Amino acid sequence: MNWDDPLAPLSSKSSAPSKAPISEEANPLKNANSAVSAPAPKPSEALTAVSGQEAAIHGQPMHTPAPSELKPVNSDDKRVINGMTDINQLAPFKYPWAWEYFLNANRNHWTPLDINMAQDVHDYHHKLTLEERHVYENVLAYLTTSDILAMRNIGLAVMEKMSAPELQIYQARQVYEEALHTWTYQHCIESIGLDQGEIYNRYRVVPQINGKIQMANRRLNSVLRPDIDLNDRDELHNFLMAYIFFSGIFEGCWFYNGFSPIFSLQRRGLMKGTAEQLQYIMRDEVLHASFGIRVAKQIMFEENIQPDPKALREMWDEAEACESTYADYLLKDPILGYSKEAHIGQFRYVANRRAVSLGIEEPFPGAEPTLPWLDEQANMRKEKNFFETRVTEYQTGGALKWD
Ligand SMILES: [Fe+2]
Ligand SMILES: [Fe+2]
Repeated sequence: MNWDDPLAPLSSKSSAPSKAPISEEANPLKNANSAVSAPAPKPSEALTAVSGQEAAIHGQPMHTPAPSELKPVNSDDKRVINGMTDINQLAPFKYPWAWEYFLNANRNHWTPLDINMAQDVHDYHHKLTLEERHVYENVLAYLTTSDILAMRNIGLAVMEKMSAPELQIYQARQVYEEALHTWTYQHCIESIGLDQGEIYNRYRVVPQINGKIQMANRRLNSVLRPDIDLNDRDELHNFLMAYIFFSGIFEGCWFYNGFSPIFSLQRRGLMKGTAEQLQYIMRDEVLHASFGIRVAKQIMFEENIQPDPKALREMWDEAEACESTYADYLLKDPILGYSKEAHIGQFRYVANRRAVSLGIEEPFPGAEPTLPWLDEQANMRKEKNFFETRVTEYQTGGALKWD
């Protein structure tokens, strides 16, 4: 499992989404033979469905069709956006990989209450330096606001524009997971005894955190408008750019980088409960970023559209500037084993990886990994006392590579 191909351990030959040529995804005959495809329903099984044309009008049929008018959904007619097939009929799949993401997501079950935070309470109050407390608090302040934004993006701006149910179903799970992540940060904040009002308000009063949030807010607000017509090429391009931002940068880079300061504390035996919570969250975010990148690529293919290189360059530059400003604030005073230079260097390296997955130009050619320990540290290991906390082996197991 890795960021580029997170379903690899479970893959049948039809389940290598990020590596499969895009043309295969559009080939309904190939998909019809996949292990997760179902045969087309008989007309008698589709009595409650509406015709494609009617389904496209926000689920408001113009008349009730007689059973004889109903045709089974042809998977070839499905599209990621602007589709006209019945959104209420799951199979036959056109995107069987989306269903596999959903099944895989359901293997990472936990709640923040499962993880013992007692040692973290002691560490925070008796072991962390003032500089380390500053890092810990601001990581939480940034992440908790970010996950609410991520939830609103998928649940309010993205899902409603999808016109294939297998895509919406994974995204519905993602909405839940983002809410679960917010609960997790809240549980950490509560367990440690931090001032909740102050922590939650921090993104509004600390400009270095606010910059990242504002960049995301602008992208989100631009695709939340009710009057968007994705048949308009300018609107479509803006939606594609927002999708690339949220999957490739916001989740693919900023979340990934967002956890690493806490993993550096964990390496030194500090705040291990919080780090374990973040390991679970990272499992979800690997899938979120990978799924989003795959959907963005499918939109590019189906709608015959490419992101404007100049717009992409500006987006990467703004994201890098925001991340750099954030790192300057977060690590204004050094802590042992982690630096702002390493933080921003890793951002550039990971950004290149996401760009390759998206099929676009690398924004920071030559960037090298600056946190070589991160992959191993982010993985879950059964090194703890079994009676102290539950075993956290991920069901799908396998060798994990996080970037
Ligand atoms: Fe999240
Ligand atoms: Fe996410």
